[in-house]
Amino acid sequence: RDLPVLVTGGAGYIGSHAVLALQAAGCPVAVVDDLSNGTRRAVPSDVPFYEGSIADRQLLSRIFAEQGTRAIMHFAGSIVVPESVEKPLLYYANNTLASHALISAAVDAGIPHILFSSTAAVYGAPERVPVEEDDPKRPINPYGASKLMTEGMLADCAAAYSFNYGALRYFNVSGADPQGRSGQAGQGSTHLIKVAVEAAVGKRSHVDVFGDDYPTADGTCVRDYIHVSDLAAAHVRALERLVAAPSENLVMNCGYGRGLSVLEVLDAVDRVAGMPVARRMQGRRPGDPPALVASNRRLVETLDWQPQFADIDTIVAHALHWERKLKDLTAA
Ligand code: UFG
Repeated sequence: RDLPVLVTGGAGYIGSHAVLALQAAGCPVAVVDDLSNGTRRAVPSDVPFYEGSIADRQLLSRIFAEQGTRAIMHFAGSIVVPESVEKPLLYYANNTLASHALISAAVDAGIPHILFSSTAAVYGAPERVPVEEDDPKRPINPYGASKLMTEGMLADCAAAYSFNYGALRYFNVSGADPQGRSGQAGQGSTHLIKVAVEAAVGKRSHVDVFGDDYPTADGTCVRDYIHVSDLAAAHVRALERLVAAPSENLVMNCGYGRGLSVLEVLDAVDRVAGMPVARRMQGRRPGDPPALVASNRRLVETLDWQPQFADIDTIVAHALHWERKLKDLTAA
């Protein structure tokens, strides 16, 4: 409760929801973000904000000293899979090298706990679903590889120095704060639910459906969509666990263990929006695994985490509410 936490990437989509969850849990929070993707207004005004890069070790040392930081939640990074294929060095710099700088500064300052944003992309195209944490890690793009390298660095460093770590592997993060305080901002998102609610508010004419000939029930890809606020709550739980069990590390999937097809998601958007959103069948998008669903046994059993917003209509309703708010903001 009195653990001062530094959230890297706290002005971004998932980081900003983690800040809200930490504040609700009574933790003092500070944010560092270079605003390459996040926005200053995603950070509550009572949260100390440092604009800068986590690769800047001097800045980090100053923040740790000023804030008395005792734990880090590390969200800052680049997350667009196709971009990682075009610009792998950028991904290894922003995800792997920047994490190296952060971990180094944390070790120098004796920070005892680090919780890291990892991804289901570390599994690549898994041979079986639900995928378990110990299943093979064979990333199929530099994004997944850059995150897996950081997991490895954390494991080696936690063994050598005095901190413990958690690596949370997110499946498809979606939705928005139920109270409408934050959500997925910005332009150019490629995520299915974001794209579909943009179409529902008239920012796009239609949604492309990338492939309907996959070996799934309706031929479209299956994913495990997890509400961002349930994910943020899992972070608070994970941090509590890192503090309570300082000799243990946590590596766990974050999903509901439930798969939904692209068409099932779009049906939910039609229901919630109260009108059909136009769909266009397209060919497959390169690099999409047919099905990606988490086994969340570890998450549920270790952290006693109980999701509150798993219903797909709730996820879509919150995403749509946020999208309408964004549209009003842009119009104003
Ligand atoms: N899709 C469409 N139309 C769209 C957008 C997406 O049909 O306009 C489909 C995709 O082809 C895919 C599914 O919807 O089958 C989900 O796609 P997203 O882009 O929403 O998410 P991904 O599953 O591709 O990616 C997510 C995270 C990545 C992470 C990856 C792990 O966003 O950060 O899971 O594999 F790396």
